[in-house]
Amino acid sequence: MAELSFANRVVVITGAGRGLGREYALAFARRGAAVVVNDLGTNLLGDAAPSSQPADEVVAEIRQAGGKAVAHHASIASPEGAKDLVDTAIRTFGRLDAVVNNAGVLNMKPFAEVTLEGLQRHLAVHVIGSFLVCKAAWPHMVAQKYGRIVNTISGGIFGLPGLAEYGPAKGGVFAFTRSLALEAIEHGIRVNAVAPQAATRMLHASALAPDLRERLDRIMKPELASPGVLYLAHEDCAVNGETLAVSGGKVCRIALTYNDGFTDPSLTPEMIRDRIGEVLDPSSAAVWTSATARYEERAKDA
Ligand SMILES: NC(=O)c1ccc[n+]([C@@H]2O[C@H](COP(=O)([O-])OP(=O)(O)OC[C@H]3O[C@@H](n4cnc5c(N)ncnc54)[C@H](O)[C@@H]3O)[C@@H](O)[C@H]2O)c1
Repeated sequence: MAELSFANRVVVITGAGRGLGREYALAFARRGAAVVVNDLGTNLLGDAAPSSQPADEVVAEIRQAGGKAVAHHASIASPEGAKDLVDTAIRTFGRLDAVVNNAGVLNMKPFAEVTLEGLQRHLAVHVIGSFLVCKAAWPHMVAQKYGRIVNTISGGIFGLPGLAEYGPAKGGVFAFTRSLALEAIEHGIRVNAVAPQAATRMLHASALAPDLRERLDRIMKPELASPGVLYLAHEDCAVNGETLAVSGGKVCRIALTYNDGFTDPSLTPEMIRDRIGEVLDPSSAAVWTSATARYEERAKDA
């Protein structure tokens, strides 16, 4: 089984000073990649004074092991920071092959306590940050007819109390990934996402019962999320627009489905009431990967 090598590849990873991003950076570097380690060095809520220390420490660790890395400390939530991140890759290593949009913030609280400012902070880092880094990387990837983009979502898109700020941000990244993927394919670029679960400070901030947390800590090693990211960032990656859930050695697909429901050209609300079981029946569910395909499917009834 040939190892997935990243020799001569240049990878940008956002939020790589700690937690999952740090694991990704170390794993990419061990396999030969030159890594741009971005991290603002903020707290979980994203409202602490920035620090260059986390990114610098990861770069030092990579270099001590004989790898290639450079630190980048700006916020990816600003157009200047995102552009400078990509420029740093080009300036330092001469090219850019893969982007891992991993930086994230989390503030879990009941809906009665969330604020517009809190929602905006989550959207700024997750959605706008991913968007801006992709925007900056895109022309380089299109010009070289090659690129890999790995965005980060969360199982939180399935719904979890307390995620009224974080959930919409991750849902936005999920939708962004799918649309960008459909534009990317003709340029030799693939865009996918991971939904990791790992025992980092972010998982520890979730209101988990102590027993559950202790059991999750035992299996959800952060380094076990890296294989999903490395696969999606490699030239061998055979998928596009997909989301892989990676958690404690388990990897599986998160997908959107339509089921058959029922069709009646004289549809009324009463019919839906009376046949809601059919509408919700998951046994006919099938995975759909684009909205265009769905329009074509519906037009068959015309
Ligand atoms: N840990 C989990 O179980 C889990 C679950 C689902 C999704 N995720 C996602 O995985 C990613 C990594 O999470 P983690 O658990 O390693 O969290 P973490 O808090 O340990 O690390 C996140 C890093 O992002 C950095 N960061 C925050 N805002 C930034 C900005 N504007 N610019 C640059 N860097 C910034 C932080 O300084 C921090 O080092 C996040 O996107 C998170 O939402 C994690």
